Amino acid sequence: MEDWRGGYRSQPEEFDYWIDDIEGTIPPALTGTLFRNGPGLLDINGETIRHPFDGDGMISRIAFREGKAHYRNRYVRTEGYVKEQAAGKPLYRGVFGTQKPGGFFANAFDLRLKNIANTHVIYWGDRLLALWEAAQPHRLDPYSLDTTGLDDLDGLLQPGQAFAAHPRIDPGDATRPPRLVNFSIKTGLSSTITVLEFALKGNLAHSYSHVIPGFTFIHDCAITPNYVVFFQNPVSFNPLMFVMGMKGAAECIQFNPKQPTKIIISPAMASDLYKRWRLPPVLFSTMSTPLSREATW
Ligand SMILES: [Fe+2]
Repeated sequence: MEDWRGGYRSQPEEFDYWIDDIEGTIPPALTGTLFRNGPGLLDINGETIRHPFDGDGMISRIAFREGKAHYRNRYVRTEGYVKEQAAGKPLYRGVFGTQKPGGFFANAFDLRLKNIANTHVIYWGDRLLALWEAAQPHRLDPYSLDTTGLDDLDGLLQPGQAFAAHPRIDPGDATRPPRLVNFSIKTGLSSTITVLEFALKGNLAHSYSHVIPGFTFIHDCAITPNYVVFFQNPVSFNPLMFVMGMKGAAECIQFNPKQPTKIIISPAMASDLYKRWRLPPVLFSTMSTPLSREATW
């Protein structure tokens, strides 16, 4: 129980040490670095964050070499993290319901999003990127974990443009080069899904967009060699309570049990062809990818 509670406490320290508390031995041939991301701060100078998903992103790095392991962790120096640590108090609202101290007058009409870089970390094309799905990624030095800053992927992303936090990797085969597949969503009365496919060196290989009727809340996708699959959840968004400073934006997303869930099947590299299938109303957040060497659809 105590260990479980630990998951809901802040861990504000930044460490740098060789790991010596090891059971067994690390295979000497194991060489490489494991990166992990997650919300590490669950309070700001004693002010509790309402939901763990609103916590600032902390990157952990475990490097393996010659039978040894080294640990380092650093907070992503997002604009919000730097300003709040300097101020010693919350300056931003959180998407999942965290509000600034001061009630209605402090929170109403403050519609800024704090890019907390806390959802995922990827290393692709010599870039280490901390992801948060509603804004641009932050780039970090893969060795020191120092934050370089926001990364627009060589001008691909506009300021503030979404870049989803669960990219998929296609390892490729004899007929297909490896690629990283991700997407960017602009939602409203209709929504635009832009699929972005990156080659191994990090350059954009393909990009194509679909305009989907209706509001979308899509957190993840799955890929096959020939398709990208999305689930359009039966939800609607009424931002009134968010605008009035009484709820986080994500708390204003409502499940509509009378609407179907729609599966969007997008042929790779085709902007004008996609199919939608309807399912009974269920809500998908994360997906495991059906990609396999045998999958041909
Ligand atoms: Fe997620």
